[in-house]
Amino acid sequence: MATIKAAILGFGTVGQGIYHILNEKRQELREKLGVELEVTKILVTDASRERVPGTHHLMTESIDEVLAEKGLQVVFEAIVNEEPAFSYLKQAVAHKCHVITANKVMFAKRGAELEALAKANGVFVGYEASVAGGVPIIKTMKNILLVNDVSRVQGILNGTTNYILTKMRAEGWSFDDALKEAQSLGYAEADPFNDVSGQDAFKKLMILSSLAFDEQPNWSDVEVIGIEKITAAQVAEATEKGLRYRHVAEVEKRANGEIHAKVSPLLVDKEHPLYPVDDVFNAVAMETNYIGTLSITGPGAGMYPTASVMVEDYAEIIGKRAGFTVTI
Ligand code: NAP
Ligand code: HSE
Repeated sequence: MATIKAAILGFGTVGQGIYHILNEKRQELREKLGVELEVTKILVTDASRERVPGTHHLMTESIDEVLAEKGLQVVFEAIVNEEPAFSYLKQAVAHKCHVITANKVMFAKRGAELEALAKANGVFVGYEASVAGGVPIIKTMKNILLVNDVSRVQGILNGTTNYILTKMRAEGWSFDDALKEAQSLGYAEADPFNDVSGQDAFKKLMILSSLAFDEQPNWSDVEVIGIEKITAAQVAEATEKGLRYRHVAEVEKRANGEIHAKVSPLLVDKEHPLYPVDDVFNAVAMETNYIGTLSITGPGAGMYPTASVMVEDYAEIIGKRAGFTVTI
């Protein structure tokens, strides 16, 4: 049986999740895909620290060493920020590697460029994990777009902020305590300012805009308001009135063709579809011309939900390459 060699860039919450799932599902993946997958390199900033027992020999701090690996075919990317992630993936694609990323900061800005480079090199890009964690919104949208036009996308796209708002309301936690817990659960970004300021949801919204409308609004025209100014007293007052705070991202294509987007807190009552979406859950509703409104909900962050959709991307890519559709 052929062996596919893979590298994991970044070995924090998401990178470790990929490694665990690939090990746990090794036999099933081999049977379904007809190939063995072997992780042969793991890129980190500090290779002296073994995060998972038995992985020390795989760790490196050098992307050149990763890409010099003979027969490398797949690169999973779970590091942070636009650079060096984009440059690493650009090099990986030039080495004819399929790339699978969770990095929305990089993909929101450089996704189109990366996909064009991948196409030119005959390889695929998977980016399901870059939006809404374990919620398969990218695949769902791709599946309906051949026939449907999407006019509007609205939802909760950040697990950390929804978790904080839920814990402040339901448990009476302070903002800081809820954020600390979200960090310890692996939900928050390396710099959690990106979560609470709305920047993380904004990047995900831009990725959805590219997919739904083939374009993004000017980033500077998009109003992005975070949740950092919402106080415990405001949350309590809303609760008394039967309302809940949700941090909502929305993008729409207006009749004049303009794309309009916004990220901001919203008070919703119990009739609103986002009212029951608590904890780390995300929810996305797409308004389409034929289906009508299509909604999808699930865990928006965390090790296993996020890593699992990256492994799904891997299975889909290997299936495509072999000319069949994989159903795990
Ligand atoms: P994390 O726990 O902070 O891990 C980041 C990893 O990347 C660390 O292992 C770090 O190395 C490595 N790294 C950072 N910069 C690097 C560089 N320049 N070169 C090599 N390695 C580098 O982050 P995470 O939560 O796993 O998130 C990773 C990515 O997935 C981010 O882009 C995030 O937005 C995205 N994402 C996260 C989630 C989630 O639930 N956490 C969900 C969806 C998407 P060291 O260990 O040596 O510091
Ligand atoms: N920090 C992000 C969130 C991770 O909380 O939604 C998932 O992209």
